[in-house]
Amino acid sequence: MAHILGVGIATLDIINYLNGYPQEDSEVRAERQQVCRGGNACNSLVVLSQLGEHCDWCGVLANDAGGQIIRQDLQSHGIHFSHCQIESGGTTPTSYITLNQLNGSRTIVHYRDLPELSADSFIQCDLTRYQWVHFEGRAVDQIKVMLQHLKQQQPRLPCSIEIEKPREGIETLFPYAELLLFSRHFAEANGYTSAVSLLSAMQLLAPHAQLVCAWGSDGAYAVEPQGDIFHASAFAQTDIIDSLGAGDTFNAAVIHNRLLGQPLPLALKNSNRLAGLKCSQQGYTGLAARYQKLDK
Ligand code: FRU
Repeated sequence: MAHILGVGIATLDIINYLNGYPQEDSEVRAERQQVCRGGNACNSLVVLSQLGEHCDWCGVLANDAGGQIIRQDLQSHGIHFSHCQIESGGTTPTSYITLNQLNGSRTIVHYRDLPELSADSFIQCDLTRYQWVHFEGRAVDQIKVMLQHLKQQQPRLPCSIEIEKPREGIETLFPYAELLLFSRHFAEANGYTSAVSLLSAMQLLAPHAQLVCAWGSDGAYAVEPQGDIFHASAFAQTDIIDSLGAGDTFNAAVIHNRLLGQPLPLALKNSNRLAGLKCSQQGYTGLAARYQKLDK
């Protein structure tokens, strides 16, 4: 199995599970509450570690109670984080999440008061240890320096970037990645109404990368460098109860499949299956075990 470095945020997630979605200015009672670690890169690493990969995380930790919860959770998944940046002043980024168990929708109010990871912290990582590096496309100026360092030090080390939210200049990161994982949110925020129209446009900006975009119940789309766009149907689940982190799970599965050398169409199909399973359970526990049991 491969050694993977994930670069991105860790959050404290305060999840209220409801049977429905509250009206504005109403008072409702949650069925259940969970306080746990979240964050796209860390969620993906947790799934990757379940799939048998060795994972390290590089990100920012606050010296507060939330930071402690994050440390304990990562440790429990065998994810090492010796290269993270400790900020004594800030607070752990916190997501207040309303999870509607009737349809799986997750509504996130995120509060952030912590510096972004600096390129200097990333540069401390010994890149010779890794077979893959995955980045969350966040603070563009810093991530670009990290990517330049990676390509200079380890030109053959493949990397992926999650392009989830529109951020100024994010397209300047595209040329450094072997794999770009676009979200539907990014597509729609940029005026694209389908994954196909997004990928066709992105192909011009990143002609040397594999491009992937998941589009909820419409399945996922991908394209090889200079190739045609192809589609894999969503893995239909009757019991969708929790979509929190489904995109992070999908991304983890694509990376895992690429590391296994699976062709992109099969990688997409398998990733839809894992993301679909995620939506039919709360949290991530036992996800890979359920996936391994599927008749493939
Ligand atoms: C899910 C998630 C949550 C986190 C939020 C951050 O994808 O990573 O765990 O609170 O998104 O944007």
